[in-house]
Amino acid sequence: MEADQTKAFLRCTEADCQQLFSIDQRIYTCPQCGALLDVHYDFNLPGTPVEMQTIFRERRAADTELDLSGVWRFRELLPFVNDLSTVITLGEGNTPIYQTPRSAEYAGLDRLRFKHQGLNPTGSFKDNGMTSGVTQAVALGASGVACASTGNTSASMAAYAARAGMRAFVFIPSDQIAFGKLSQSLEYGATVVEIEGNFDDAMRLVRELAEETDLYLLNSINPFRLEGQKTIIIEMIEQCGWQVPDWIVLPGGNLGNTSAFGKALYELQELGFIDRIPRLAVIQAEGASPFYDLYMTLDKSALRAVARPATLATAIRIGNPVSWKKALRALSCSDGVVERVTEQEIADAKAIIGADGIGCEPASAATLAGIKRLAASGIIEESANVIAVLTGNLLKDSTYTIGYHTDSLSIQSDGVSNQINGTFANKPVRSPAEKDQIKRVLAI
Ligand code: F0G
Repeated sequence: MEADQTKAFLRCTEADCQQLFSIDQRIYTCPQCGALLDVHYDFNLPGTPVEMQTIFRERRAADTELDLSGVWRFRELLPFVNDLSTVITLGEGNTPIYQTPRSAEYAGLDRLRFKHQGLNPTGSFKDNGMTSGVTQAVALGASGVACASTGNTSASMAAYAARAGMRAFVFIPSDQIAFGKLSQSLEYGATVVEIEGNFDDAMRLVRELAEETDLYLLNSINPFRLEGQKTIIIEMIEQCGWQVPDWIVLPGGNLGNTSAFGKALYELQELGFIDRIPRLAVIQAEGASPFYDLYMTLDKSALRAVARPATLATAIRIGNPVSWKKALRALSCSDGVVERVTEQEIADAKAIIGADGIGCEPASAATLAGIKRLAASGIIEESANVIAVLTGNLLKDSTYTIGYHTDSLSIQSDGVSNQINGTFANKPVRSPAEKDQIKRVLAI
């Protein structure tokens, strides 16, 4: 393709191919070789990194919709939108970083911080990517958008599609997504298709449908979504005064976020915003850990899918992640690691994050469980500067939380039921409706 005036292209991620395509093409993989695509830029920033940092920060105090978005105030780092008045935003991003002393102690670290992406408009990090993905859908003139989802992608896509006045079709594994997430998709007006299968089945089907219809696919295979998700890292490092931490820890499912984080770090270093790349640690649930298996295997040329993934952290119940090759690239540029954790470890870690006054959904708590393991094995040093990403809000999956605190949480796997202990359960106390009795029950 002839390079035109635009600075943004689609580029094949396969090292031997690297073909460029126009961003006006509605493609998700390389038409030449089938590999995933990146949005690639010939960056031409209007200022030095220090000048850009000032501009990014000042926009937070502005009062335009675009500047108030924690994605679009970094727009020079994702310059694929020709007409900024077409951006679809809900004021996503700008999420806080919390110090969490209880979690740090639990993990065996001197200190630990969490960036809480669950405080986004629809309660998950997907909003950072959906604002950019739906904006591109509008630019392409798509009549509707579609995704397979374990719940959060669909909730977010449904909201942004509603804002854009577009039809949304979400494909979810039946009976396997948390109610909070399902209720969001219904409320935002998406057409919800419950597939009699798991997430991987839904993903395969929606990819086929997107090839044969006019629907624009908004799973993380879509490179424009990952552009928005890059800003989770950009904002995190901004919050650290543009000094990188030693480790960034996140849960891994379909591995889009890992891919986006890797691309953000690489570009920030290339552009001179940071002088080194922190290490990434990706945490998977034991029953859905194909990327961990790949990491532990010498031959990394093919991922062995997990046929029947099983975890109560339903957000990451994925056996055949589409972005594994990009995620491997992210590991290699960040000297990253992959860890896996048990259901019990996730459940207990979630209660500890709650005890820090923050809370999150189960998949997010895999981070703390993983950090605890990595600290115990000496991979993460006690004094390390660690920031983990909480990907989803506590209220997404209240069934799980109540199950844990009432000691009634269990996981079915291959016909066997395994009980999860409410190690840190905080059971509700029952009392007759009478003051003295309440005093006696509470011993106050
Ligand atoms: N945490 C939460 C809360 C998620 O919803 C997801 C993915 C992940 C972590 C994993 O991120 O896929 O980029 O590795 N949820 C997708 C969905 C699959 O459909 O909502 P990933």
